[in-house]
Order: sequence, then C-alpha cells, then structure tokens
Amino acid sequence: MQITSLEQYHNEYQKSLENPEAFWGDIAKQFTWKQKWTKTLEWNFEEPKVKWFIDGKFNITENAIDRHLPAKANKTAFIWEPNSVDAEHRIITYQNLHDEVCKLANTLKSLGIKKGDRVCIYMPMIPEAVFAMLACARIGAVHSVVFAGFSASALSGRIQDSDCKIVLTTDGAYRGVKDIPIKAVVDEALEVCLSVKNVLVYKHTNTPITLQDGRDLIWQDVVSKAANTCEPELMDSEDVLFILYTSGSTGKPKGVVHTCGGYMVYTCYTFQNVFQMDSSVSSLPEGEMPKAERELFWCTADVGWITGHSYIAYGPLLAGASAVLFEGVPTFPDAGRFWRVIDKYKVTHFYTAPTAIRALEAAGLDFVKPYKLDSLKVLGSVGEPINEEAWHWYNKNIGKEKCPIVDTWWQTETGGILISALAGVTPTKPSFATLPMPGIQPLLVDEKGNEILGNNVEGNLCIKFPWPSMIRTTYGDHDRCKKEYFSTYPGLYFTGDGCRRDENGFYRITGRVDDVMNISGHRIGTAEVESAINAHADVVESAVVGYPHDIKGQGIYAYVIVPSTTKDHETLKKEIIAEVNKIIGPIAKPDKIQIVSGLPKTRSGKIMRRILRKVAEGDVSNLGDTSTLLDPTVVDEIVKGKL
Ligand code: WT7
Repeated sequence: MQITSLEQYHNEYQKSLENPEAFWGDIAKQFTWKQKWTKTLEWNFEEPKVKWFIDGKFNITENAIDRHLPAKANKTAFIWEPNSVDAEHRIITYQNLHDEVCKLANTLKSLGIKKGDRVCIYMPMIPEAVFAMLACARIGAVHSVVFAGFSASALSGRIQDSDCKIVLTTDGAYRGVKDIPIKAVVDEALEVCLSVKNVLVYKHTNTPITLQDGRDLIWQDVVSKAANTCEPELMDSEDVLFILYTSGSTGKPKGVVHTCGGYMVYTCYTFQNVFQMDSSVSSLPEGEMPKAERELFWCTADVGWITGHSYIAYGPLLAGASAVLFEGVPTFPDAGRFWRVIDKYKVTHFYTAPTAIRALEAAGLDFVKPYKLDSLKVLGSVGEPINEEAWHWYNKNIGKEKCPIVDTWWQTETGGILISALAGVTPTKPSFATLPMPGIQPLLVDEKGNEILGNNVEGNLCIKFPWPSMIRTTYGDHDRCKKEYFSTYPGLYFTGDGCRRDENGFYRITGRVDDVMNISGHRIGTAEVESAINAHADVVESAVVGYPHDIKGQGIYAYVIVPSTTKDHETLKKEIIAEVNKIIGPIAKPDKIQIVSGLPKTRSGKIMRRILRKVAEGDVSNLGDTSTLLDPTVVDEIVKGKL
C-alpha cells in the first residue's frame, strides 16, 4: 500500500485515473472484512450520492485494534503527554487500547446506547477521548466530538442538531495554566437538551462537580466493572461512523457525515503514504519508553477537529503506528514545549499547524536551542496556507534541513488529505501543497465554472471525481450538503478554496474564496460571528471579515453599528467580546472591533464585504467601484474611523 518512489507515484496516479474502482478495491482488500463488497462505487454529484464498497460488512475498530493484536499487542498505540511537565505520562499499548475500548463499549451498551445512536464527546486531550470515539465505533454508535473549547451554547446547538443520547465528558480540562470546569459547561448546555439521558464523567482534574441524580455517572465507577471484550458490531460500509460540525459560509455550523468503509480505507492509505512511516518495527514491552529506532508520530491537533479524527485516532491506529497524544498547549510552561516533547519521546514524524509554527518562531530561537530534535525525519503542516517565511523557519530550525515538509491540504468534508507531497518520495516546494494523492482529480475553474486548463493558472479549486472518504451528507439536511458543495459548479465538488497551479502542475492553496475565515487554522463562518455579536442588546447590525494576522494567519475584524446614544465604546467592545465567547467560544472572538454608523450596502441590501476586507487589511488606496452602493459616504466614514 506504500508508494516508495516518484515513478511509482505517477504509475499509481495513472492507475487511479484509468480505473478508480480497481485501484481502490485493491487497497481496500488489505483490511479485514466480514463480507466483501459487491460493488466498489456508485455515485452522482447531482443529488449528490456517493457510496463506496457497497454491501461490505466489517467494523473499523477491528481493523484499528484487533487486527494488530497478534503481532503488536504490546506495541505502543499512544504515549500520552499531560499538560503539566511534572505529571506522569501514560503508555497505552494496543492491548490496553483494546481492553479500554471494549470496557467503555460495554458500558455504553449497558446505558442503552445502540447502533445508530448519537453520542456527544466533549473532552480534553486524554486517552479516554480516543477510547470514547472507538467505543462508539465498536458498537456502531455515531460519535459527534465537540471541541472542548466551545461554549455551552455552541455545545447545546450541536447536541440538539443530532439528538445525542449521552454526553461523555470530564470534570475539568487543563489548558496551560488554566483549569477549565467543563462539566459545568455541559450542565449549562443540557438545560436545553431534552434528548440526553446520561452524562458519563471521567474524573481528571478533581475539580468539584455537581452530579444530577439519575443522569450523571462517574466513568471510573462504571467502566471498571465492565468486561474487557466486546464483540464488534457488524457495520455496513455506508453506515455512519461520525458527525463532525464545521462552519460554513451561511447559518449555523453543519454536521459533516462520514461513513465507515471509505473513511477507513482513505485515512489509512493517506496516513501511510503522506507520512511514510515504517510502522512495522518491533513491539515494545508494556510500560517501556519508546526506543530511538522506533518510529513515533505526533499530530498536535485536538480530537475536536477533523485532523484529530483522521490523523490521531483513526489513521495511525489503522496503520498500526505509535503516536503521541498531547494534552497541553505549545507555549506552556514555555515556547519550547513541542521541542521538549519531541526529544523526550524521540518523535520521528511531527505534524502541526502554521499558526503554531509562527507563534513559536516569534518566541525566538532560545526556546529551540536547548533541544536536539535529531529524532525527526518528517515534518507536516496542516490547516491553513503556510507562508514561505514560516516554512523556511520550520525547515531550518526544526527539520535541520534534512526533513521533508509535507504541506497537507484537505478539509473536514474531505475526511483525509487530498493534496500533499509524499514525504521523501515526491518533491516539496515552500508554500505549495504540491500534488494530488492518487485517486484525487482536482481542477481549477473560473467564476463561470469553466475549467481552467494548462499550468501557471489560478482559479477556484474543485474535485471532479469521488474519493472514498468524502462527505456523504450534512446531518439531517441533505439539501444543505448539495447547496454548499455541489451547486456552485454543477457536477463538481467545490472546496471553497482558491488555488494556483504552477508551471510544474504543483498546487498552492491561496485561501478561502467564500465567507469562511481561517483563524489559527480554525474554521469560523463570518455569519456565525455576526449573529453572536448581534445578540448583544446594543448592537444594531454587524459585518465581520477576516484580515491578515501575523500569528493567526487571519484575525477577525468586526464592524458594528450601535445607536448613537450608546455608552462608552470601550466597555461595549468588551461586552461584545464576552457575548461571542458565550455564544461560540474564545476561538471566535473578534481581534478588532470598529464602531460605525453604517455598512456599505448595495441597493439590494447586500453588504459589500470586498470593501470591508480592504479596509480591515489597511489597504484603502484602491477600494474599487463603489458606485453601486446605496450610500457611498459610508465608506469614507469607515476609512476615517480606521485611520
Ligand atoms: C480549510 C479546511 C484539514 C484539516 C484542518 C482544517 C484550509 C487546510 C491547508 C493547507 C492551505 C489549508 C483550507 C480548507 N487548509 N489545510 N495545507 N494549505 N490551506 O480543516 O477546518 O475543515 O478547514 O482549511 O482553506 O478549505 P477545516
């Protein structure tokens, strides 16, 4: 399954174009199926309908865990590095993983959770969060992981949208110096969630909590009593594996639905090929620290995002690899934490986001110098465009110019990496995601949807053929899936990204072309932030745009209209930020708020965001054509207010 030369990459790519079904069927054969699929693919992008490995029956956890036990029972699945440098790390072997997942799966069953039921996971980065995802998959329940930094109101919205029956959480979560009482957030969220019958609370920080009688249970009490074997539920390839909420250009976040078969095949295949790990190496006795000759993967994402799903939980386990699971933040206790952890465990493959790289670069080389970093073989980047400066810093100071950097482009909806170099196998180029994975057929289109052929061109990035782990629907609203991704350019999957193809056919993602912002690699819709701001009683209307930010990639700039009688603006700005924290969470709080008396609108009432973006960027010299505006003087006032 692993491509090892450039020539082989081209051959495989060609094969995948000529006969996609034979290509993916060949890869899928390598997993354990209880019943083989009868047909590899059925699809049309009009409805849209995409089905892979039709009638195949299996369980993903059997492939991610049980399949490895004969040879790798004592191999490390995860090394957990806690938030505090003084706390003990934990080693979870594949056998431990099996036992813990089964125990939790049995517990969920005993609480009445059945195949198809939705389970909300709202947890910090501890091994139990991964056990929780896999326990759901074991019994065929659908997990919906919600990043534990989201507010009670964001959490309740997600629980309600998919009618979750149970919430798995912890008493508290450590994040750097903070100790966040997340059970209290769950309690608040559940005041409006009638579908939830139980809350299972893992005691982690020993923060005091209140338990609601008949609803709340302490994880340690019940799970310890459960049996450590659990027959995996037989799942169909197209049964839902999980829902993950993500922001779109309009309205509330939508639940992206992924199914079992295609997701399994694609995340494993891309993990193996992009990172090129040798996961076959010897197993370790239980409890022992990894040895230098072993390969160890570390993806710094949170399991609350798709990166954590595909390249912490599923991909590495399906490939039988060992990985680090990190609870903390890159700057605690200081900006050397990542490098310290790499040396401590001898991490070989390191995968992080440009925003973290830029923040650590800004902290200075003094935080890098104490560490050897000589175990590293491959570096990865994900989540947003990596600027050339950050690329070179990463390459020079972390990779010591001997580690290929894979800049992996993909999305929540794509399930796995679509465009990336294969480490050490295909060429890299700073700030370019480079070449499509085998099976991926990207194309660039102009505004009208015409394909832009040839090289040295730029356009909107679409994909013309299905791949196994692509989005199947948006939960409870298939029409939304169609509108968001398959209607802008009929017959194509539209990514929402702009993209350049250089003279060699390498792809460089230039950023979103819709009203979605990318703040520190987190996707946030302008509409979501606007609606949170508008919830403040003194706000008449608001418009939000992204603007270039040195560390975050993009920052959030909010233009807010308030009545002229309003109290002092500084207090009001603080209140607006608090409102956004409450409705969405700290990741969505505006970096800059400008109070204005009007917004540039066309005669039909549409806000001209192009102008607002330019002003936010500080580029007011050429605002383009403003003649279609209802009231062009609004623009002068906004520009003056900015200066
Ligand atoms: C959006 C998807 C994919 C996991 C994390 C984000 C941007 C992602 C890259 C990259 C340039 C990138 C795109 C995309 N993006 N990776 N390597 N280079 N841009 O997942 O939250 O679904 O966001 O992130 O704009 O559309 P997500």
